[in-house]
Amino acid sequence: MIQAPGKLADATVPHIITELPGPKARAQIEFDKQWTSPSVPRAYPVVPVRGEGCTIEDIDGNLLLDFNAGIAVTSTGHCHPDVVRRIQDQAAQLIHYSADFYLPIYAETCAELARIAPMTEKCRVFLSNSGTEAVEGAIKLARFATKRPYLVAFLGAFHGRTYGSVSLTASKAKYHAGFGPMLPGIFHAPFGHVADLKWFDEVLFDRLVPADEVAAIIVEPIQGEGGYIVPEDGFMQGLRKICDKNGILLIADEVQAGAGRTGKMWSIQNWDVEPDILVTAKGIASGMPLSAFVARDSLMTKWGPGAHGTTYGGNPLACAASLETIKLLEGGLMDNARVRGEELMAGLRAVQAKFPSVIKDVRGIGLMIGVEFDSHERAAAVEWGCFQRGVLVLEAGHTVIRVSPPLVITEDEVVIGLKLFGEAVAEAATKV
Ligand SMILES: Cc1ncc(COP(=O)(O)O)c(C=O)c1O
Repeated sequence: MIQAPGKLADATVPHIITELPGPKARAQIEFDKQWTSPSVPRAYPVVPVRGEGCTIEDIDGNLLLDFNAGIAVTSTGHCHPDVVRRIQDQAAQLIHYSADFYLPIYAETCAELARIAPMTEKCRVFLSNSGTEAVEGAIKLARFATKRPYLVAFLGAFHGRTYGSVSLTASKAKYHAGFGPMLPGIFHAPFGHVADLKWFDEVLFDRLVPADEVAAIIVEPIQGEGGYIVPEDGFMQGLRKICDKNGILLIADEVQAGAGRTGKMWSIQNWDVEPDILVTAKGIASGMPLSAFVARDSLMTKWGPGAHGTTYGGNPLACAASLETIKLLEGGLMDNARVRGEELMAGLRAVQAKFPSVIKDVRGIGLMIGVEFDSHERAAAVEWGCFQRGVLVLEAGHTVIRVSPPLVITEDEVVIGLKLFGEAVAEAATKV
């Protein structure tokens, strides 16, 4: 069920043969700097050229252990042979035609996503290319279907960078800097504690806008970019109640937390809550650009032809990758995420026990784990120290390191990664 190791994965990883970054990487970075938009955030100087399972080979031939999964995307590991084969087969058949026509693989992918959606009622699906596009579609549908103007998101949320989604985003001010005004009609609620939910009745509905003018509440069931924050038990259930009481739609943004990462297909299932609209992207197609929003039939059928569309969304190659990905997730990878996640969590808590003044918290579910440090500088030093040792991890929020490896991660890779992470923390504990 778990991907058999291939040539790259057979090597002992990490395997570092140059300094990091190496000479070819440095030359490539110089070239890159001349041509690419400086707006692209670059975490640290990794120059990947090949991937397999949890291994990344960089341009200098160094083998790195990937605990990022390309920012929680390559759920089935890099270049899973079944996914590669399926994409290759599809590429030889039809690469593009557009969802304005009746592509069989488009409908098949919609039916699959509707099948695995966490809603009891029959659902329909709209396919697009990126997380942000699916968020845009979801909020358009919410306003259209309810004929209500207002939207609520949460402080700490990240929903993307196009105008609607960036207006919902409230994880860092830099995402808004220089781009105002944002989309009007959006309010931000405090996230995570059951007690925070009184904000809705006491502040929003009492002082700002009537509840019957709010179209939707959009929530990441586990906040991602905001710092891998797991809400208190009861928070998601409480949100559902607020929505039910006031005819407000609940949109679950599962772009980062979904697609099996928490050991369940959707992170909201950890609290047995059904959303009205589900948004997915990232891990659902193993790295091919596919996103979707899924809504109850009664909701999605409120709009008609032309209300929403896209040229590329549901591209056949992305659909092929997604169909194979869903098969693999259900065929053992979700279980692996749970088991390996418990090992990782226990190992990271052991590191925390050694450095309690440095590591403030270790939290998460399955393979979505956040390690919170005492300062941004410390988290950055750990990120760099891991890279120097050949382990790729990434900051989230201001003080958190996220651990979100591919779901194919093996027990050995967990052990090696934990050892090197522990060394990086020990170094950062004395240096910063
Ligand atoms: C929860 C969440 N929603 C939406 C997005 C936006 O996705 P994309 O970068 O594919 O537009 C992200 C990206 O990190 C995300 O984590």
